[in-house]
Amino acid sequence: MPKAKISALGCYVPPRLLTNFDLEKMVDTSNEWILERTGIVERHIAAPDVATSDMAVEAARVALAQRGIEASDLDALLVCTVTPDMYFPSTACLVQHRLGAKKIWGFDLIAACSSFLYGMGVGAHLVMAGTHKKVLVIGADTMSRIIDYTDRSTCILFGDGAGAMLIEPSEDDNYGLIDFLYEIDGSGGDALKMPAGGSRMPPSHETVDRKLHYVHQDGQAVFKYAVRKMYEACRELLARNNVTGKDLGCLICHQANRRIIQATADRLGMPPEKVIINIDRYGNTTSATLPLATRDALTQGRLKKGDLVVYAAVGAGFTAGASLWRWAY
Ligand code: COA
Repeated sequence: MPKAKISALGCYVPPRLLTNFDLEKMVDTSNEWILERTGIVERHIAAPDVATSDMAVEAARVALAQRGIEASDLDALLVCTVTPDMYFPSTACLVQHRLGAKKIWGFDLIAACSSFLYGMGVGAHLVMAGTHKKVLVIGADTMSRIIDYTDRSTCILFGDGAGAMLIEPSEDDNYGLIDFLYEIDGSGGDALKMPAGGSRMPPSHETVDRKLHYVHQDGQAVFKYAVRKMYEACRELLARNNVTGKDLGCLICHQANRRIIQATADRLGMPPEKVIINIDRYGNTTSATLPLATRDALTQGRLKKGDLVVYAAVGAGFTAGASLWRWAY
């Protein structure tokens, strides 16, 4: 079975910034509270005419250019998102058309904040099956479209953005995906959800009046699960591969709250310089956090060819997991 490696990365964030000071003028909150409880300073917000597929296309173009290939060279395209342009056609179809990728297939993947982690795994397995040579995995979310900006408990957390990773066979068996551990637990479904808009509660005047088309969450329940599960997933994955936190070059976690990442890193015995945190500048961009954090790790010289890297995420569902890679470029 061929190994699957990440061979290129592209990211996009919209230019407009929403700072904690801006939010102070919108809801009863303060820069100090947000910074202390979450680590967030600012987040990027898409212009009204920009949708998830627009950001996804921008990120994809950067990744393709970095690898020096055309969209027509791709075999498959996955778009990981909880904010598709519409339910159908899939955002993958919209992106495929805009990129001009011919004769490929693809689909959207929804696993809330774990979407991109799962997408990387699915993309890698298409390559490992030997049936696909170039799979583009995109994580893109326009969270600002499903956030109630009068609800201080959620509106401070999220931002918009996109990232794309190209996954290809590795000529050298030492590089690429080593192992993964994914787990879903639907018993936590009520803790974080967008209640209306689906078949259970179709959109109506009443659902809009009751703001059920926005993100609703029990922040503490999510926090407790995330702190426990993110560590447990990493610990188990590392243990069964005989790797310790100290052996890792980099820990790249979903950016939902600085305290969740810090707690995971501390328990794994990871020194701060190996833990990538950029939630201060982007907030929680849901499906885009892992590629955005990878971009920072690369540009800051903190992720280099040959490094062991763990990706970890926890999200609504609940969904959780971690994957272990040896970085290939
Ligand atoms: N500004 C000021 N005060 C706020 C506030 C805000 N933006 N949001 C909530 N508060 C208040 C609450 O009303 C509460 O007041 P009370 O004590 O008078 O009732 C107080 O702050 C504490 O609220 P609490 O929810 O206990 O805070 P917290 O320390 O748990 O932090 C979160 C809240 C949302 C930051 C935290 O729970 C969290 O990050 N949870 C995980 C969320 C997440 O990651 N979601 C995405 C899934 S991947």
